[in-house]
Amino acid sequence: MRALSLLSLALPVFAYPHLAHKGSAGIRILPSEQARSDVRLSRRAAAPYSPLYPYTGAQIDGLSGLAVGGIQVPAPGDTAHEYQDPPEGAYRGPCPGLNALANHGFLSRDGVTTFDEVVAGVQNAYNMGWDLAVFLATVGVSLDGDLVTTKMSIGGDATNETSITGGLLGAEGGLNTHGTFESDTSLTRSDYYLPGANYDSHTFNGTLFGMMTATVSSTSSASAPLYDFAGLSLYRSQRYDQSVAENPNLYFPPKELHLYGAASFLYEIFPNSAAGSVPDKATIMSFFGAVDNGDGTYAWVPERFPEDWYNRATAYTLLDIAEQILAMYLAYPKLFGGNVGAGNFVPLDLDPHISGGEWSPSTAEDVLCLLYQAATENVPGEPLPA
Ligand code: HEM
Ligand SMILES: *[C@@H]1O[C@H](CO)[C@@H](O)[C@H](O)[C@H]1NC(C)=O
Ligand SMILES: *[C@@H]1O[C@H](CO)[C@@H](O)[C@H](O)[C@H]1NC(C)=O
Repeated sequence: MRALSLLSLALPVFAYPHLAHKGSAGIRILPSEQARSDVRLSRRAAAPYSPLYPYTGAQIDGLSGLAVGGIQVPAPGDTAHEYQDPPEGAYRGPCPGLNALANHGFLSRDGVTTFDEVVAGVQNAYNMGWDLAVFLATVGVSLDGDLVTTKMSIGGDATNETSITGGLLGAEGGLNTHGTFESDTSLTRSDYYLPGANYDSHTFNGTLFGMMTATVSSTSSASAPLYDFAGLSLYRSQRYDQSVAENPNLYFPPKELHLYGAASFLYEIFPNSAAGSVPDKATIMSFFGAVDNGDGTYAWVPERFPEDWYNRATAYTLLDIAEQILAMYLAYPKLFGGNVGAGNFVPLDLDPHISGGEWSPSTAEDVLCLLYQAATENVPGEPLPA
């Protein structure tokens, strides 16, 4: 059995040669050396939760809160969780949800966070279910952070801050790292190997935000665009097709199911529950940090919670997200696999679920099963160290 799983780990590298050359990730906010060392010395932990503003009641201890939402975020008077620009030298990365949390002090504002901060922050601010919070935080810390300190950069490599051994055991690339958690066909981030993207798959791409907005406008019956299930399923399908055509090194393994999950956050988590839970443009722009240039493209400012925003009433759980992933995948089924040259797609085989790139899930449990397999075995994920 062991031999079998090692074999399946190695196979994708043979099939998709570029996987043997993993890139390193940059950081978005380039700091001076002095600022970097100041940040290193003073990792500002996330603001503690005051009994006056308990949110869902999660503490920074990895445990579950009460899962009861409908709460204003940040709470009026809770100055500790007010928006602030990222401090110089801070890390920000491919996840708008976590970037916004750091900009509001739910995670350490420098962007070097911990498992416990993430699990508390996503419960308290977004009313994400504890099971989903733990799942995502575990994947993030284990693939891109440090299992001893449980620290993780939400952006580029911060090994000196996340590791007590200073990275003797290898670099801890942070969430920007391509191919561990961050991957191809994202909503608003370019593919790492896309010609012209300059190996940057973590920075907001305003052209992509414009394409997403145009697509969701085309499927909305409302006069203003809604970033809903119909629009985002179609846009995910378009992004996949675009990557097959344009990215010579596209890699789309089952792990990419999490991108369908991330797309569901736009209509399940970002909407304001005190305003009809509508995934409208102003709300989505605020969480993505998008600023309308008026010509179909968008500029970027740091992500923030919209004014007078209330989180969802019921928690968004692992089973909930699996149901959305299933529905979105089945709306436009795609082959798993990768490109060997632009437009030259080679499908993946993965016993017992996937054959010739095809996957036929019928229940949310099928989705969870594949997600767990992909997360725990990292199969068929990324390269063995060369
Ligand atoms: C709980 C821990 C979380 C971790 C470790 C995490 C990590 C990530 C990573 C690595 C990506 C990049 C995926 C890619 O584009 O290849 C991502 C994307 C994304 N995340 Fe998170 N995330 C977490 C929670 C959240 C939450 C709570 C939200 C929303 C409230 C959120 C919203 C998003 C969205 C919308 C994207 C897609 C961005 C795009 O494709 O342009 N995430 N996340
Ligand atoms: C990490 O620390 C080492 C030793 O002090 C130093 O040589 C290296 O440049 C640092 N790396 C970063 C990314 O700051
Ligand atoms: C942004 O996305 C567009 C559309 O895919 C692409 O043409 C452009 O090269 C991307 N820009 C960067 C800097 O990645």
